[in-house]
Amino acid sequence: MDSKNISPACLDFQTPTRTEAERFFRFRTPTDLDGRSVHRLISRCPPLDANSVYANLLQCLHFSGTSILAETGDGQLAAFISGYVLPENPDTLFIWQVAVDPVHRGKGVALSMLDALLDRTIPAGVRYLETTISPENGPSRTLFQKLFSRRKAPFSKRPLFGRETHFGGGHDDEVLYRGGPFSAVGP
Ligand SMILES: CC(C)(COP(=O)(O)OP(=O)(O)OC[C@H]1O[C@@H](n2cnc3c(N)ncnc32)[C@H](O)[C@@H]1OP(=O)(O)O)[C@@H](O)C(=O)NCCC(=O)NCCS
Repeated sequence: MDSKNISPACLDFQTPTRTEAERFFRFRTPTDLDGRSVHRLISRCPPLDANSVYANLLQCLHFSGTSILAETGDGQLAAFISGYVLPENPDTLFIWQVAVDPVHRGKGVALSMLDALLDRTIPAGVRYLETTISPENGPSRTLFQKLFSRRKAPFSKRPLFGRETHFGGGHDDEVLYRGGPFSAVGP
């Protein structure tokens, strides 16, 4: 399965209310027109790597089926999650970046969006979720551990990219977390 094979019916979703977050934010799939706003949002969300606008445009265009954004009632971008299905492992959704605008943090937005993304992709064959987390990023670690726990999914972790080996000392280690299998019924 790749992201463009997920049917549009799955994508134009309004998920049922699961958390308070969804009462205040509209979740939807990104389009190429969101690319520049996503780029600005990422730059407000250290320690995330800022990619080029072009890379964000491609995320929003080619990986829209496996990505999600949240916007406020007046259409401001509040949060974005980029993801894609592993080309060699079509049952695995890889989460690339999670970015919540600093003013909207602590309201359950990220957790709720991850849930919505799983609810959207599980019917299309996703059973596992992977992401990488730097050991220094406690909020990200607890976010994903909470997601796995809520979904009653076991998880494992192993080093993936090393500070020296892969980044030449210019970036923290990245540890791969893999959770699942997920059942079709969410929390
Ligand atoms: C990490 C981040 C995405 C969390 O977004 P958020 O919408 O505030 O997170 P949520 O409100 O959904 O939190 C869900 C759970 O994650 C954990 N969590 C989130 N922020 C946390 C923090 N600052 N410290 C500790 N735990 C945190 C908690 O377990 C929380 O559940 P709880 O509130 O019931 O304790 C956000 O802080 C962010 O964008 N950070 C900068 C970019 C980044 O590091 N992204 C993650 C790596 S890809």
